[in-house]
Amino acid sequence: MDAREMKIKAADTALSYVEDGMRLGIGTGSTAEEFVRLLAERVADGLSVVGVPTSERTARLCVELGVPLMSLDELPELDLTIDGADEVDGKLSLIKGGGGALLREKIVASASSRMIVIADESKVVETLGAFKLPIEVNPFGIVTTRLAVERTAARLGLSGAIEIRRSGGSVFTTDGGHHILDASFGRIPDAEALATALNAIPGVVEQGLFINMASIAIIAGAAGVRTLKA
Ligand code: 5RP
Repeated sequence: MDAREMKIKAADTALSYVEDGMRLGIGTGSTAEEFVRLLAERVADGLSVVGVPTSERTARLCVELGVPLMSLDELPELDLTIDGADEVDGKLSLIKGGGGALLREKIVASASSRMIVIADESKVVETLGAFKLPIEVNPFGIVTTRLAVERTAARLGLSGAIEIRRSGGSVFTTDGGHHILDASFGRIPDAEALATALNAIPGVVEQGLFINMASIAIIAGAAGVRTLKA
């Protein structure tokens, strides 16, 4: 199985949790997009669901493939969100935001009764932090905010480069008009303490640590699919 086949396998397994009539949060990224493709086939066969997309990119794909959408304001409570992740640990704490959609992903997941993560085996880690932690920040005072992030992390014993994310030669801008700091802290032993400390910094809009949000992770590897439960 190559990486794409693993993503499809995880997405296909997640589909078995989707029931007729559900209000679905739909994630962002290449794994979530495999889920959208499979979901669209089921919708074409008569499955009735309404999706709330976590990004403009996901919204475009859903529209293209005929998955019915509503906004979160129209559908403020959701049954299930299915989304990918950049890292998953044994307690199902996650790093997300590699695709730059972490704020909407977190709002949508919080509005859902359940969140299921779909990923390939490469995303599973013992301790979060090998993947750079995305931190969504207001453009105003970004250098000041970066300094505050650096000092806050240092108080928790964490250090490392904190880069302003760029894309195609310019500063990356999220769907919400914010920028992203990618922090190379390395191993994050206390993700909850870091999340709380980062959220307290003026200028930080949200950070990519998803703690106590996912209840199931569907992990596809060469040997098959396994399900982790929180
Ligand atoms: C986007 C995300 C994605 O879920 C994460 O980056 C995983 O993406 P992929 O499935 O392409 O590896 O958090 O903000």
